[in-house]
Amino acid sequence: MFPSRPVRSVILGTGAYLPERAVGNDELALTIDTSDAWIAERTGIRQRHIAAADERTSDLAVQAARRALEAADMPVRSIDLIVCATSTPDNTFPATATALQHKLGARACPAFDVQAVCSGFVYGLSVVDAMLRAGQATTALLVGAETFSRILDWQDRGTCVLFGDGAGAVVIRAEPDQGRGVLATRLAADGSHYEQLYVDGGAGSDGRVGHLRMQGREVFRHAVGTMSNAVQETLDGVGLTTDDVDWLVPHQANRRIMDAVGRKLGLTPDRVICTVDRHANTSAASIPLALADGVGKGLIRPGQLVALTAMGGGFTWGASAIRW
Ligand code: ACO
Repeated sequence: MFPSRPVRSVILGTGAYLPERAVGNDELALTIDTSDAWIAERTGIRQRHIAAADERTSDLAVQAARRALEAADMPVRSIDLIVCATSTPDNTFPATATALQHKLGARACPAFDVQAVCSGFVYGLSVVDAMLRAGQATTALLVGAETFSRILDWQDRGTCVLFGDGAGAVVIRAEPDQGRGVLATRLAADGSHYEQLYVDGGAGSDGRVGHLRMQGREVFRHAVGTMSNAVQETLDGVGLTTDDVDWLVPHQANRRIMDAVGRKLGLTPDRVICTVDRHANTSAASIPLALADGVGKGLIRPGQLVALTAMGGGFTWGASAIRW
């Protein structure tokens, strides 16, 4: 099936979907004791998108997936692996990836979810890359999709202002190695931080769930160190340095975290893709949404070195280096 040369996982197309309803900080200030100034200054967030009552995580995912297939110029029948990174699945089971498969009209193939909260896309990319290089599939759809609005405590101003809903997708194909594609990924977790960022109830995006609880300062402190170290270690592993990086695409949690990671790595803000102002924190969807934004604006171009990094509940974290 594969040529005898080694293969690499090459991203052929990206797609994004944001629910229609955008909610600005001022609108939140109508119902909770907060302000646009506080949110913008502490986080860089100006607005977030919120899914409609009848929109489920798989509905967001399917829109992003269609756009990624279109951008890749690939028919849906070419997909033989579907991975959905989400912490807000449609239901506890089956996997949202199977709902996505059905709604997309994809053929029978492996379809499963990856749950690593905000690190979900990087975890998913690592799994997809390994499966493609092992010859278990040829063309994969990897989607990060979330409806975090369903698991927020809308009375807790320390958390509800930070998150939004959305989905981002990539089509990834195994191609003979010509230097392009996923060069390396690194994953990590430390469950001793479990209680610093968790949901105090079951899983699901139908509203009958627990709520997100977070010790914001602890998360902030760990996020900067883990994400910058993960990028550094990933680059070291393939003999590259931060000077080689054209774009850093960090998990979009908070502008101050992203700036601090950039500073630690010696990357100026003009080399960091930022969407947190418009999307807020969309957890596993944040990196593919930022990738689609960067590609759509012509910032991320073929041949460039792109570093992804994320950190989330667990704590989990990781990084990837991709030759675009
Ligand atoms: N509006 C107004 N005031 C607020 C708000 C709000 N939305 N939220 C908290 N405050 C108040 C607090 O009540 C507190 O008031 P007090 O001094 O009277 O007690 C004051 O602001 C300071 O609160 P802190 O929590 O200490 O504020 P801090 O400067 O740490 O900022 C924040 C809070 C923005 C959550 C910060 O800790 C942070 O960004 N942490 C990272 C969390 C994050 O991004 N998590 C995303 C999930 S994990 C991930 O994706 C990596």
